[in-house]
Amino acid sequence: MFEHLQPLPQDPILSLLGEYRVDTHPHKLDLGIGVYKDEQGNTPIIGAVKEAESRLLTSEQSKSYTAPAGTAEYNHLASALVFGTEHPALKDQRIISAQTPGGCGALRMGAEFLRGCSQKSRVWVSLPTWANHAPLLTGAGLEIAEYPYYDYATKGIQFEAMLQTLEQAHAGDFVLLHGCCHNPSGADLNPAQWQAVADLMARKGLIPFVDMAYQGLGNGLEQDAFGVRLLAEHFPEMLVATSCSKNFGLYRERTGTLFIIAANPAQAETAGSQLFSKIRSHYSMPPAHGAAIVETILADTGLTLSWKCELASMRERIQGLRQQLVSAITASDIEGDFTFIQHQFGMFSFLGISPQQVEQLRQDYSIYMINSSRMNIAGLNQSSMDYFVSALAKVLSA
Ligand code: LMR
Repeated sequence: MFEHLQPLPQDPILSLLGEYRVDTHPHKLDLGIGVYKDEQGNTPIIGAVKEAESRLLTSEQSKSYTAPAGTAEYNHLASALVFGTEHPALKDQRIISAQTPGGCGALRMGAEFLRGCSQKSRVWVSLPTWANHAPLLTGAGLEIAEYPYYDYATKGIQFEAMLQTLEQAHAGDFVLLHGCCHNPSGADLNPAQWQAVADLMARKGLIPFVDMAYQGLGNGLEQDAFGVRLLAEHFPEMLVATSCSKNFGLYRERTGTLFIIAANPAQAETAGSQLFSKIRSHYSMPPAHGAAIVETILADTGLTLSWKCELASMRERIQGLRQQLVSAITASDIEGDFTFIQHQFGMFSFLGISPQQVEQLRQDYSIYMINSSRMNIAGLNQSSMDYFVSALAKVLSA
């Protein structure tokens, strides 16, 4: 039977990483996958994570099963991080949550849950959006529609077009919004825009599904949660998927959370029963180690402070790299205005070059970025900046 199978193309982000890993060029540069790197080009384990792991090594008493929702303490601490301890939806017990295998697990289980709510679920995603959104959502049987988001000409958000398109959505449709650090564009909604989107969606009866994979890497932990918290105050029903891959650096530990907000505690409990049943039939329960690390950090004031400091320095380093990149390009022979890079947030920006130029950077200089010209700014450092800008100048003048 297997002889009839056709090979499928690999995910564009993961296949690029595979190519980078086998490249032997001494100056090869990975600006592809969204992974934070330090000045030495390493993705270090955060200090608080190391300390939490060492505490867990001695304190952990059992490897017995947890539950489809993961542990109650993780879910409690993760909710406070995302919504803040005083959020009315939390106080009103309208939020149920499940620890998930990464942000992907949260998105997929959210999609499975939505599919279970209605046979004709449609979800609107930004154009463009992260390459894995469509597979995760359609894999659960959701229909995808797109709303305009990034304007490649102005390097900003096509806000009017976004609103006009969402006016066409039907009551009961879901709208996937990036909570912060839009992937792939780095162009984020400002507070007034969040409010306008919330007003439109509430008027039309649309339901928010927020993907927040980069909390703390844009403007700050609290600032980045602005949109999620605003929507959660005004919508009776909503989903939020979060990830600890980037802000805790737990990529391979697969740690994330899915939150479902319902109109009242009874409906939240029923929604939870549906979700946990879906989880049981997919992977039974989430892996424990990453969540135990997060739980250990967030339950300890000293470790939380240490983690927040390290996260702030990661964020500031990315913001600094954005400015340095703009300065280096401005000081070079490269024509054009690249200042938009310093007004965007998180790891990614579109450089705005053609797929052929991206290919040339890869072939001639071993500089790897996604074909769309999405680059991971956090992959740059002081020593690679000149190499990158001079390669870019050569490619653009060819
Ligand atoms: C990315 O967009 O590069 C990251 O979210 C990593 C991934 O899994 O694609």
